[in-house]
Amino acid sequence: MVWILMLFHMLIKYVSSTCDVTAQEIQADSSLRFLTSTGYNEGSGSYINNMDCWWRIDSGGDDLKLLLFLTRDLACPGDKISIYDGDSSTATPLVSDLCGTSATPTHYSTTQRHAYIRLVTDASVSRAGIKLEFLAAKDYSGTGCTGSQTLIAGDNSNLLSSPNFPGLYTNAKTCRWLITSLVGNVDLDIVFSDIEDDLPSRCDYDKYTINDGNDRCENNVVRTVCSQYPKVTPFTFTSSGSSVVVFFVSDSSVNRRGFLLKYKSNATYTTTTVTQTTESSSSQATSSSVEKSNKDPNTCMDARMVIGIVFGSLVVVIFSVIVVVFMILRFHNLQKTIKPKD
Ligand SMILES: *[C@@H]1O[C@H](CO)[C@@H](O)[C@H](O)[C@H]1NC(C)=O
Repeated sequence: MVWILMLFHMLIKYVSSTCDVTAQEIQADSSLRFLTSTGYNEGSGSYINNMDCWWRIDSGGDDLKLLLFLTRDLACPGDKISIYDGDSSTATPLVSDLCGTSATPTHYSTTQRHAYIRLVTDASVSRAGIKLEFLAAKDYSGTGCTGSQTLIAGDNSNLLSSPNFPGLYTNAKTCRWLITSLVGNVDLDIVFSDIEDDLPSRCDYDKYTINDGNDRCENNVVRTVCSQYPKVTPFTFTSSGSSVVVFFVSDSSVNRRGFLLKYKSNATYTTTTVTQTTESSSSQATSSSVEKSNKDPNTCMDARMVIGIVFGSLVVVIFSVIVVVFMILRFHNLQKTIKPKD
């Protein structure tokens, strides 16, 4: 009996040793990371036959969930992947025995902190394998988009997400966040974007926009995103004043995962505090001038309005000049006609 058990154990060891990966217990965080099967080589390699491989991903907190994007190239029917919503293969599967090739990454999210992944290959035909991207997160949208929200950007990074993240966002949502920094400007780091796909020139369905200022104007949009993952790569932005507006809207159909971003002030509070305590009178002046220089224009004064005003004034000026010239000429003529009579 003991011998059989030992043999069985050796067999398991042998099988799992063919899964030649550096880590099987994986810690996720709020950055998008990935794992690949052995020999994946960015989708151009090939995996090992007779592989039985597992990974367990931990989001790192009971309130956190996992967002997963799977890219696969597996020979059907013998080579397959299963993803479980839990820390072992006894949990509910998010997907079971999936094989074949995906043109775009398939998205999943867990309902709790762990994901357990199992990849099995048979004795024949090997293809590129799998790449699994993952990220730990929760819904950082705040009060559920019931109204406009104001967030303070401080020394440390805070997170903001679309509603229900990392699950699918829901239909007919309109959310507006004003992110404002008491000292300095706002640094945005857009970690992840996955929005219903549309032509970037249209963005008629779902989208999010970043506006540079404390209002949402036509002329201060610095970014409009309406593409699914992985079309939009991460990007960063620093406001020109003390605030930015993040606006998200979804229509009545097709939901994706949304977005995750980090925000912070680009100045440090600690430095300001030190300056203020050491030189009280002069620092007062500095802090108020900082505030002034960081004030954002809060009216949506767009280019057309400016052109309108300039054009309008120009018309008035030209008209006045014409009237004056006309009057002078009239006066001159009047004098001429009067003169011969003298
Ligand atoms: C914050 O960003 C603004 C705009 O890019 C820049 O002018 C300013 O120097 C930055 N402040 C710090 C402390 O880096």
